Amino acid sequence: MSDKPIIGVVGVGYVGLTTGACLAHIGHTVVCGDVDVTKIDRLRNGEIPIVEEGLTEIVSEGISTGRLEFVVGATEVAERSDIVFLCVPTPQDDDGSADLSFIEAASAEIGPVLRSGAIVVNKSTVPVGTTVVVDEVIQRSDITVVSHPEFLREGTAVNDFLHPDRVVVGADDRSAAEKVAALYESIDTQVIITDAASAETIKYAANGFLAMKISFVNAVAAMCEAVGADVVDVVEGIGSDRRIGREFLRPGPGWGGSCFPKDSHALVHVAASHGYDFSMMRGVIAVNDEQRERMVRKVQHAVGTNDLNGMTISVLGLTFKAGTDDLRDSPSLAVIGRLRELGATVKAYDPTATGTLSLVQESFLSGISVQQSIDEAMSEGDVLVILTEWPEFTSLDLERAKALLSGSAIVDTRNLLDPQTVRAAGLTYDGVGRLA
Ligand code: UGA
Repeated sequence: MSDKPIIGVVGVGYVGLTTGACLAHIGHTVVCGDVDVTKIDRLRNGEIPIVEEGLTEIVSEGISTGRLEFVVGATEVAERSDIVFLCVPTPQDDDGSADLSFIEAASAEIGPVLRSGAIVVNKSTVPVGTTVVVDEVIQRSDITVVSHPEFLREGTAVNDFLHPDRVVVGADDRSAAEKVAALYESIDTQVIITDAASAETIKYAANGFLAMKISFVNAVAAMCEAVGADVVDVVEGIGSDRRIGREFLRPGPGWGGSCFPKDSHALVHVAASHGYDFSMMRGVIAVNDEQRERMVRKVQHAVGTNDLNGMTISVLGLTFKAGTDDLRDSPSLAVIGRLRELGATVKAYDPTATGTLSLVQESFLSGISVQQSIDEAMSEGDVLVILTEWPEFTSLDLERAKALLSGSAIVDTRNLLDPQTVRAAGLTYDGVGRLA
C-alpha cells in the first residue's frame, strides 16, 4: 500500500456519501460505488439526493478536483482501492436484531477482487462480532477487516466529519488500525484505537447513551407536569453541572430517525444474545414509546375530546428532526398515525415536503394532506401541533395562527414557543414539561 492509499466507499447513503466526499475534501482520492444506477448518474452530475448542509459543495469540489469519483457497483471500487469502507445499510430485522444481509453480500462481492494487502473498513453500524463475520465471508489471509464506527448526525454530518470529538478505529491487527487512523492526520482530534469488538460496542453504547439522555429528560418533563415545575429551568439547573452537560436534554415527542430506534433495539438484542438482559435500555425504549402516546393525549386534551372524528389537526413538521428531509421513524409520523387512527384529518406542512413529493416522501406521507405553506396547514385546524423543531416555526406569526385556525390551541411538542406570548395572543398553549 502506498503512502497515499486510494480509498473506496461501498454504498452512498448518508454515511457513505458524506464519508467519501469529506475524505476527498481533506485530500484523499476516493472511489464511491453503489448498486443504484440512477443515484450514481445524479451524483456524477453533482446532484445530491438528500438534504444535508454543505454536502453539495464538497461533492462538486471533489468532482472538479478529480479526487471524488462515482462508479456503479462494488467490484470496481474494490479493484481500485487500498482501503475499502463498507457503508451499506443494516436495517432492523423483525426480532430487533440488525439485518446483515447487505454487509454479507457486499463482502462476498468484493472478497475475490480486493487488492492484496487491502483493508476493509466496517463503517456500517453492526452487532459486536461483525468484523469477524466480514473476515469469514472474505476468507483471505492477506486482507484485514477493521471496525470504524461513525458518529455523524444527519443535518450536520459534514461538520461532524470535519470536526469530530474523536475518531474510533478497532482492529485485532494494530498496524491496520493505524493506517486507517492516519487518514485523519489533517484533522485535529483524538484518535482512539481499540480491538474490533470494543469499537463495535462503542458505537451502540454511544447511541444508547444519547437515547437514554433524551428519554431521561422526557421522563423528567412528565414529572415536571405532574409536580408543577418547568423543565426548561430544570434542564438549565442540571445541565450546568459539567458531569451532566446541556446537550441532548431537549424534551420532545421522543427520539426517532434511522439510527436510535434501530440501534437501541439492536443493543438490547445483542446483549440478550450474549446472556445479558439490558433492562435499562428496554426502559429507555419504553419511555420513548410512551412519549409519543403522551403527545397524542396532549392533542386530545387540547381539543377536549378523545374521539377525534371530524377534527382537523394542523401539523407543523414531518421530518424526524430539523435540518434533514429524512422521514424514517419520524416521531411526527408516529403521532400523526395515531391521530388518524383516532379519526382525525391531518393537514401538515414541512419545509422539505413542498412542490411535488418524491416517491419516497409519498410512501411515508400517504393519507396526510401535505400543504405548501404554514398558513395553508393552519387554515381551519382545530388545533395546531408543532412536531419538528424547524427554525421557521420558532417565529410563528401568532396573530395569523389565531385568525386562520378554527380552534385556539397550540400543542408545541418541541418547546419552540414562549408559553406566555402564545397565551397573550389569545391561544392556549401546551408544551412538554412547561408550567401550565
Ligand atoms: C444519531 C447520533 O447523534 C449520531 O452521533 C450517530 O452517528 C447517528 O445517530 C448514527 O448512528 O448514524 P441522528 O440520527 O442524525 O444521529 O440524529 P440526532 O441528532 O442524534 O437526533 C436523534 C433523535 O433524537 C431525533 O428524533 C431528535 O429530534 C431527538 N432529540 C435529539 C431530542 O428529542 N432531544 C435532543 O435533545 C436531541
